[in-house]
This record gives sequence, structure tokens and C-alpha cells, in this order.
Amino acid sequence: MHRFVLALLIFSFCSVLLVDGSKTLMGFSIDLIPRHSPMSPLYNSEMNQTELVKSAAMRSIARSKLLFIGQNELSPPSPSPLPSPPSSSSSSAESVITPVPDHGEYLMRFSLGTPEVERFAIFDTGSDLSWVQCSPCKTCYPQDAPLYDPTQSSTYVDVACDSQPCTLIPQNQRDCGNSRQCIYLQQYGERSITIGKLGSDTFSFGPMGMGQDAKFPESVFGCAFYSNFTFEISSKADGIVGLGPGPFSLPSQLGDQIGHKFSYCMVPFSSTSTGKLKLGNHSSEAPRNGVVSTPFIINPSLPSYYLLNLEGISIGEKKVLTGQTGGNIIIDSVPIMTHLEQRIYANFISSVKEAFNVEAAEDAPTPFEFCVKNPSNMNFPEFVFHFTGADVVLNPNNMFIALDNNLICMTVVPSTGISIFGNWAQVNFEVEYDLGEKKVSFAPTNCSSY
Ligand SMILES: *[C@@H]1O[C@H](CO)[C@@H](O)[C@H](O)[C@H]1NC(C)=O
Ligand SMILES: *[C@@H]1O[C@H](CO)[C@@H](O)[C@H](O)[C@H]1NC(C)=O
Ligand SMILES: *[C@@H]1O[C@H](CO)[C@@H](O)[C@H](O)[C@H]1NC(C)=O
Ligand SMILES: *[C@@H]1O[C@H](CO)[C@@H](O)[C@H](O)[C@H]1NC(C)=O
Repeated sequence: MHRFVLALLIFSFCSVLLVDGSKTLMGFSIDLIPRHSPMSPLYNSEMNQTELVKSAAMRSIARSKLLFIGQNELSPPSPSPLPSPPSSSSSSAESVITPVPDHGEYLMRFSLGTPEVERFAIFDTGSDLSWVQCSPCKTCYPQDAPLYDPTQSSTYVDVACDSQPCTLIPQNQRDCGNSRQCIYLQQYGERSITIGKLGSDTFSFGPMGMGQDAKFPESVFGCAFYSNFTFEISSKADGIVGLGPGPFSLPSQLGDQIGHKFSYCMVPFSSTSTGKLKLGNHSSEAPRNGVVSTPFIINPSLPSYYLLNLEGISIGEKKVLTGQTGGNIIIDSVPIMTHLEQRIYANFISSVKEAFNVEAAEDAPTPFEFCVKNPSNMNFPEFVFHFTGADVVLNPNNMFIALDNNLICMTVVPSTGISIFGNWAQVNFEVEYDLGEKKVSFAPTNCSSY
């Protein structure tokens, strides 16, 4: 109950607190770089397609498992030998757990501070606070770029522990530092944490044309000085950019300035082109063909996620119904696969097998469950995800992924917990989030030329 009230308070406060009302409404876009694209610093030319697909699929499984832990096995953060350890609470039920981002499949650049320092970070719609590793650091994962040094930025200020942004952090995940700076703890899954001080500085994106950057002064972010993860983040990534529904996420902080809207358009993860993240509502100016919208829901026990309601899935003429109405599937930019609740998956896959009328390959590589050989002479049924109010018609390319050896594998797998609509299913859709109207819309789009 307490946590629900807090969530409500956060919602009513954030637009007042974190938005500079004097700014005019604007829209701008940022490249979303697929991690396996030759344009990505994470590009590894040694890996073949099968290895790339399998590694992405394993990351997807890791993300979905941590989400399951987040729902069911909350444990209080462990106090660590920190300069200013956050107070650990006796009540684990109050922990806000954000599942593991792992490496992330899409990354973006932005700049921080004055003068600007470029950062390369994981794009994550499933967490709120954006953070970078800062110096001095107590325990940081190794990173190639120098740590962000806030003392070198003329626009950086520590957020004070009695200020309102700090008090928006749940009480058991914040503390007051020696010089009254706000110390936060962010937890990913059961045993992964990052701790830092909450800071405010200028975020810049650009250049956006005519050599101008889009600049957002006094943006709140995490200046991390302690990380202990059970997963690995590439040394090429300097942190995470959060686009979740909570008050600290980038779109929530930009608020009125972007009309409370953002959208992304993702290209396949090994594409040689980039997708786009658009902040602002300029995407809505052009009429979009085939656009469909569905409400999103915020569940207080998963406050960093956009939850949709999936009523059913059509596979050709067959339709599998979930019988649910209250929100049952998370839409997430990080995991590549779509993870379906066990019962729904069982019905789904039996309809798929009937519709295809072909033998499933016996050697489906882990973690895939359903693969078929020699797909060239196959007829693909139409797949439609029926979200409440939005029938999203998927291309076979959204449902299957090609491995070497003439094998294609279904990117829908069973989940250990709640269902997740992953990023492969969203490729070549413009997916727009309207935080004001609380809805997500899908428009089929060629994201390579978006
Ligand atoms: C990381 O956390 C584990 C327990 O979760 C602890 O045993 C270990 O010492 C920590 N590592 C560092 C570097 O703090
Ligand atoms: C955004 O939406 C507002 C209000 O609906 C409109 O006035 C404005 O022209 C739109 N476009 C941009 C680029 O802000
Ligand atoms: C891809 O790489 C793996 C591991 O090196 C190897 O076992 C596999 O045969 C390769 N696949 C192809 C099609 O080259
Ligand atoms: C998508 O756009 C790219 C770049 O303009 C183009 O090369 C490609 O052929 C387009 N794909 C489709 C399916 O139209």
C-alpha cells in the first residue's frame, strides 16, 4: 500500500519538479546503434551469425530470469564497505528492483557536462535512472573511456539529500553523504547493485543540424562510484540511459519539452545501419500508415516497466487467447526474444506446429525451442499480436531469426515468469510512447531509412 502511494506521489511530482517550463516544445533524434553492427564499438568481426544469435539469446534469457527474481524473491540490498553506504532497510518488500540490463542490444551516445564529455551507453526502456561511472570510484567495472569527472564540469552540482529529487528515491535506497549529498542505490535483480551520488548536469544530444546541440541543463543522473554486478557490462559502455516510466528517466525529465512523447525504431541487431530514438512529438506530424495504439499500465511492483495487455495471438487462422485484461506483458527494448508465460506459450507453440505442418529441427540450439530447417520453400502464416485495442501484424522476420546451417529459429520462447515482448518482434516498427496519454503505438516502418 505504502509503495503504491509513493508511486502516485512520484507521478504527480515529477512534472512539476524536473521540468523547466520555460523551454519550448521540440523534437530531436539520436542514433540507436545495434551492438553487433560494424558501427558499434562492441562489434566483433570474429563471431559468425550463429554465435551472435546465440549470445543475444542467452542475454535475453538472463534478463527475463532477473525479472522473475525481481517479482518473487526480493531481498534487501546488502550493506557494503562503502564511503557512504546506503541504509539497508529491514523491509525487503519496499525494494524497487530493476532487472538486469546485461550488455544491452542497442546503444546510444550523449554528452554530459560543460565542456561536453561524450558517453556511450546502453539504451534501456526497463529502468529509470540514467547513470555513468564517475571518478573517484570505489569499485567500477573496467571501462575504456576515462571515468566521468564531475569536478571538471562547470555545470555539475550534487543533488542535496534533503532536496525533492532525492526524496523521490525509496527510503531504503538512499542515504545522506558526508557533505549532505544524495547517495542512491540502484538494484538490478537479486545481487547486482550500483551505488553513487545523485548529480545534476547538462545532457546534450547532437549536433542536431546547424551545428547546434539539443541541451538540457540540470538533468538528474547517477554518478556511480560502486558497482557489483552478477552480469558483465562491456568496457565500451560507460553506463545506462533509462527510458522507463519513472520520474528520473530521460523522457520523464524532459517532460513538457518533448510533449511527453518519445519513439524508437530499431533495426536488426547486426544491421549495418542505425535505428533512431526520437524524443518529442515530431514523428506524429506525418500521418503514419497502419498505426495502432494500446494503453500501457504501470504495475507498482514493476514500476520501471511499461506493461501492456496481450489478449491473444493469431497464427494464420488459429487464435490463442490469454483471457487476461489487466496487463500481462512487458514491452522491453533489451531482450531480443519474446518470452511468453508458460501456459500461453504451450498453446501458442502447438498452434504454430499445426500451422506450419513441418517437422521441427531436432537440434534446436539452446536456448531456442522451435527451429526449422531449409526455410526457403516454406509458407509462413501471418502472426498477429492482439494487444488491447491494437492488432500488431508481425512480419515473419520479427518471429524467426536465421542461423548459419540453413536453420531458422522462433524468437518466441517460454518465460520463467511474466511475459516480455522483446526487441526482435519490434524491429522495423516505429514504437511511440505517449507518457501523457499512457499509450504505446506501433507503426510498420523501414527503420533503416527512418
Ligand atoms: C560483491 O558482492 C558480493 C556479495 O553479493 C560480495 O561477496 C563481494 O565481496 C562484492 N564485491 C566487491 C568488490 O565489493
Ligand atoms: C507537438 O504537439 C503540439 C501539441 O499537440 C503541437 O502544437 C506541436 O506542433 C507538435 N510538434 C512539435 C514538433 O512540437
Ligand atoms: C560458428 O562458430 C562456431 C564456434 O567457433 C563453430 O562451431 C561453428 O561451426 C561456426 N559456424 C559456421 C557456420 O561457420
Ligand atoms: C529500407 O531502407 C533502406 C535504406 O534506404 C533500403 O536500402 C532498403 O531497401 C529498404 N528496405 C525495404 C524493405 O524497403
